[in-house]
Amino acid sequence: MELKNFIGGKWIESESLQKVPVINPANGESLGDVPLSTKNEVELAVSAAKAAQKKWALIPAPKRAEYLYEIGFKLKEKKEHFAQILTKEMGKVIEEARGEVQEGIDMAFYMAGEGRRLFGETTPSELADKFAMSVRSPIGVVGLITPWNFPIAIATWKSFPALVAGNTFVWKPSIETPMMAYELGKIFEEVGLPDGVANIVFGAGTEVGTALIEHPDVKVISFTGSNATGSKVAELGGKHLKKVSLEMGGKNAVIVMDDADLKLATEAIIWSAFGTAGQRCTACSRVIVHKDVKNELEEMLVEAIGQLTIGDGLDPTVKVGPVINKSALEKIHHYVQIGKEEGAKLLVGGNKLSTPPFDKGYYFEPTVFTDVKNEMTIAQEEIFGPVVSIIEVNSLEEAVEVNNSVKFGLSSSIFSQDVNKIFKAQRDLDTGIVYINAGTTGAEIHLPFGGTKGTGNGHRDSGQAALDVYTEWKSIYVDYSGKLQRAQIDTE
Ligand code: UN1
Repeated sequence: MELKNFIGGKWIESESLQKVPVINPANGESLGDVPLSTKNEVELAVSAAKAAQKKWALIPAPKRAEYLYEIGFKLKEKKEHFAQILTKEMGKVIEEARGEVQEGIDMAFYMAGEGRRLFGETTPSELADKFAMSVRSPIGVVGLITPWNFPIAIATWKSFPALVAGNTFVWKPSIETPMMAYELGKIFEEVGLPDGVANIVFGAGTEVGTALIEHPDVKVISFTGSNATGSKVAELGGKHLKKVSLEMGGKNAVIVMDDADLKLATEAIIWSAFGTAGQRCTACSRVIVHKDVKNELEEMLVEAIGQLTIGDGLDPTVKVGPVINKSALEKIHHYVQIGKEEGAKLLVGGNKLSTPPFDKGYYFEPTVFTDVKNEMTIAQEEIFGPVVSIIEVNSLEEAVEVNNSVKFGLSSSIFSQDVNKIFKAQRDLDTGIVYINAGTTGAEIHLPFGGTKGTGNGHRDSGQAALDVYTEWKSIYVDYSGKLQRAQIDTE
């Protein structure tokens, strides 16, 4: 099967002669082909989105929201169907795939609720017989560029707030995981979203992504992906004066203090480091541990890793699935080599798995380095795989300093029983998300999602904050005095 683009409410075969197979990373099987669409197809999708937008924006927001409720119910009905395909195309284990689809369902209902809020402000005017308020206005056509690691959840984080706010969109999903986009597109069709409100164009970033960013009728670009691509998106977006929302890398740490519940910390580290085979932006890739509990924690981690089953995520007993593709596998392996060369001590793992039953997929052992120095490459760069570095510290202050010394700032976590330490940590940890006595993953959709420093550019997905990306503020002054009143002048 070759996927078709969804443009103006119709599934249209791509005019491109180029296509690539969609590969199940667990076993190398092909799930179908995805076209590498052309610039011309982006043009068609943007004009369909533009043609639909004014009418869509005039539908009252609570009515627009009803489509989102319908989408939410459909997603709920098809949760297992989505989860099975998600595991096949992305590799995450089935339980996590169900969790990801649930994030999409949650986002549908949450953003549908916004249809009856979308709050602005009313405020007194400085002048008599004058009224002042601000309202959120839709921006127009928005361009969405989504990654392969959360192909359904992140798509909903971007498309649902865009829709409820009265925008239409053109979405370029990752070509690694286009099936989720195809399935969501079918739901858009089933609930009868007006033609052109939601458009999907499959293809490469260089062609489809670039065309979207450069298109004069696309006013906003929301991107989640790597820093390398994100900075190109920002550069091009900047040139065309686009509003660009970027969500990029992380180098997230779990801090384990000397008074921590070590059993809980171990479970949380395992879950947030090796869940999704370490391929979450929020994944734990550093453990910053107090020297007094380092040995004990290490022993517990090694023991817990020994219990993890690796394999095809469709098998419910499997805890760690494959990584997305061969180049990811090679990149992770490369970082492990660097770690060894730089003198970090390999505590467990460190290898690609290439003998049966792993030979047809892309598997990497859960890996822990210890005695890692903060300046080492593996302590600083995002690896995006199941690799964790343990860094020893002597105090909370040092732990916070180490946590903050990387160029990213997405998520952090601290394990301690001391309320004073915890409150200091949540104040001082320079990340967009902080967890207390929980790992670095597990963001809920009604809070802002995003990070400081190199993780982003100040915008947030999720929560009310997402609406800021997809709306313009309009300030409205109503003078009912019947005379000219000059602001700042006729105030006495
Ligand atoms: C991501 O990795 O980009 O908090 C998203 C979490 C998930 C979302 C991760 N709810 O790990």
